[in-house]
Amino acid sequence: MAKAHPRCAVVGAANIDIGGFPAGRLSMQDSNPGRIALSAGGVGRNIACTLSRLGVEVELIAALGRDAFAETIRADCMRSGVSLALSPTFEDAGSSAYLFIADAAGDMQLAVSDMEICARLTPDALKPRLDALNGMDAVILDANLSEETLCWLAPRLTVPVIADAVSTAKAGRLRNALPWLRVLKPNAIEAEALTGVAVADDESVWQAMRALVDAGVERVFITLGERGVCCGDALQGLVLPGPSVKLVNATGAGDAFTAALAWAELRGLDLRQSAMAGLAAAAIAVEAMQTVSPDMSEAALTRRMAQLAGPA
Ligand SMILES: Nc1ncnc2c1ncn2[C@@H]1O[C@H](COP(=O)(O)OP(=O)(O)OP(=O)(O)O)[C@@H](O)[C@H]1O
Ligand SMILES: [Mg+2]
Repeated sequence: MAKAHPRCAVVGAANIDIGGFPAGRLSMQDSNPGRIALSAGGVGRNIACTLSRLGVEVELIAALGRDAFAETIRADCMRSGVSLALSPTFEDAGSSAYLFIADAAGDMQLAVSDMEICARLTPDALKPRLDALNGMDAVILDANLSEETLCWLAPRLTVPVIADAVSTAKAGRLRNALPWLRVLKPNAIEAEALTGVAVADDESVWQAMRALVDAGVERVFITLGERGVCCGDALQGLVLPGPSVKLVNATGAGDAFTAALAWAELRGLDLRQSAMAGLAAAAIAVEAMQTVSPDMSEAALTRRMAQLAGPA
C-alpha cells in the first residue's frame, strides 16, 4: 500500500532566472527602460516544488554557490517546503543562473545560461549522500547532471528512479543509465535525441517509445505538447490526448508532468493512471503564469484526473 507520507529526493538543477522586459520596442546596443524580474527555476527545483505541493516530503540536492542567488533559491525552497539540507555549497562557484532579454511581446531575444556549477555534483560529491538517497521512497534525476554522475548514480540507487530528459542537448547524458530507470519523461525531440528515431508522427513516436522500453526503461512517457502523451511499458502502449486547457504559460508543463509521475509512482498507480496524473498536473501548470502553479495541490490534481477520466 502507498505510504501516507512519502519521501522523495530530487537531484538536479536549481537556478535563478533574471528576465529583462523592455517597456517598448527592444533597441539593441542600447539601454532599454523596462522591468527586470527575478525568479527561481531549474528543472530539479521546479519538480521539487510541485511535488511538495502534492503532499510529498521533498529533499532537493542541487549545487549552490555562496552568493545572493543561492540565498534566493533557499528562501524560495523554504517557502515551498522543500529541504536543501543535503545540497552542497561550493565556495568558488557562482550559483546556476539564466539571464535573458525579451522583446516587447515577451519573447526571448538573447540569453546567457551559466549552469556550470551543476557539474560540481560529481560522484565524489554524491557518495556521502547515497545512503540518504536510498532511504527515500523514490529519487528523481534531471539531465542537468553530467553523464558521469547519472551513470554512476542510477545503478547505485535501490529505490525507483524517475528521470527528466531536460533538453535535446542534455537528454543523451541519460543513454547509458536507461536500464536503471523506472520512469523516463522526455518530450518528442528529447526522445529523438535519445533514440535516433526521427519523431515526426504517431508511428515514429511509438517507435521511439518502444526503443526506450527495449533499452531497459520500465515506463516511458513521451510528452507531445498540446497533443498529450505516448506512454508504454514492456506489456502495453497508450496514446492519451491532452485535455482542453485555458493556456496561460506553457513553461514548466513538462516539469509538472514529471513531478506527477513521481507522485503516481509513490501512490502505486498503473501506467494509464500515471499518464493521467501527468496530463492533469501539466494542465494545472499551463493555466498559471508561474512555472509552479499556486493552484497545484493533491486535491486539485485528483479532481483534474477525475475530470479527465470522465463520468464513471
Ligand atoms: N500548448 C499546450 N496546450 C495544452 N497542453 C500543453 C501545452 N503544452 C504542453 N502541454 C501539456 O504539458 C505536457 C508536457 O508538455 P511538453 O511535451 O511541451 O513537455 P516539455 O517540452 O518537457 O515541457 P517543458 O518546457 O516544461 O520542459 C503535455 O503532455 C501536455 O499535457
Ligand atoms: Mg521538459
